[in-house]
Amino acid sequence: MASTSPRSVIFLVLAVAIVVSDAQLQLSETFYDATCPQAASIVQQKVNAFVDADRGLAAALMRLHFHDCFVRGCDGSILLNSTETMLSEKEALLNNGSLRGFDQIDEIKMELECACPGVVSCADILALVARDATAKVGGTSWPVFLGRIDGGASFADEVNSSLPERTDNFTQLVARFARVGLDARDMVILSGGHSIGQVHCGAFFERLYNFQGLNITDPAMDPEFAAMLKVQCPQTKPFGFMALDATNGTFDSAYYLDLLTNKGLLESDVALLSDPLGVEYAIRAVQDPMAFLNEFGWAMIKMGAIPALEPYGWRRHCAFVEPRF
Ligand code: HEM
Repeated sequence: MASTSPRSVIFLVLAVAIVVSDAQLQLSETFYDATCPQAASIVQQKVNAFVDADRGLAAALMRLHFHDCFVRGCDGSILLNSTETMLSEKEALLNNGSLRGFDQIDEIKMELECACPGVVSCADILALVARDATAKVGGTSWPVFLGRIDGGASFADEVNSSLPERTDNFTQLVARFARVGLDARDMVILSGGHSIGQVHCGAFFERLYNFQGLNITDPAMDPEFAAMLKVQCPQTKPFGFMALDATNGTFDSAYYLDLLTNKGLLESDVALLSDPLGVEYAIRAVQDPMAFLNEFGWAMIKMGAIPALEPYGWRRHCAFVEPRF
């Protein structure tokens, strides 16, 4: 197995540091060192306990950071509850009934408020949680740059136009990621987030039962895999669940092997191989899983630096906006 050379790691560190400093100057690994030195260890302990109790939560917790950062930047807006005048992101069609882990984030925030009141932002909690959840189930750890400022607004109708969709093709995926400053390679690497977690059966029913409106199974899908899916996900059960890859409890590069062997689930997953960049990366990830694990971390750092659209301030409870003083 090839491995990432020290020189390329140094290059990556420098490249990411530049990207991070470009995007949001104030983010720093030591941001809470003076005000809440125990913040990172509190988060890590809580995440480890949650994932020990329910391994599937790792995926849900990691995904929250992605859904946060793509809508209004990394500002914790995904955590806000709706108000009388505002239907929030978590209630958007794409998120409602799909995102999980809100109670766990609230619990972490409560503990941080006890330890250091008024210090740690909800957006930073999501960034730390994503790293710790991934590392807990087999991923490599990465430095988390901190100092994000929470937003004060969250709008359900901004979600559809901001997040990629499961039916997007390669070009559409690249365009969605480009809107937040991420490139095609970042997109291919971050899609590896589907190495853990689960998906509703209904999310790939078209491929299984009605490909291109023809009442057939997508001919590009491995026939044995399709037969297994039809047993797990009969047409009558769109709300059943399927693992996102063959080893969905462990963060590894099996997702890319699934793609290369025609066992991808979502159209957007399969779409990665419609471009030479995606094919090349999938082969590389399978041949050198460590390189993928490291590159996923760097891509998460880059995603975590998407600046907040309208920074508001700190929130005592992540689901509510604190009045300004
Ligand atoms: C590239 C575009 C992407 C699309 C179209 C997409 C779409 C989806 C869909 C449709 C689901 C299943 C939802 C459900 O059935 O309830 C899902 C699950 C998931 N996604 Fe993505 N996703 C994308 C990128 C990402 C990225 C960048 C990450 C993380 C870095 C990620 C992490 C996850 C995880 C961990 C789950 C499983 C969640 C769980 O088990 O609760 N996805 N995604």
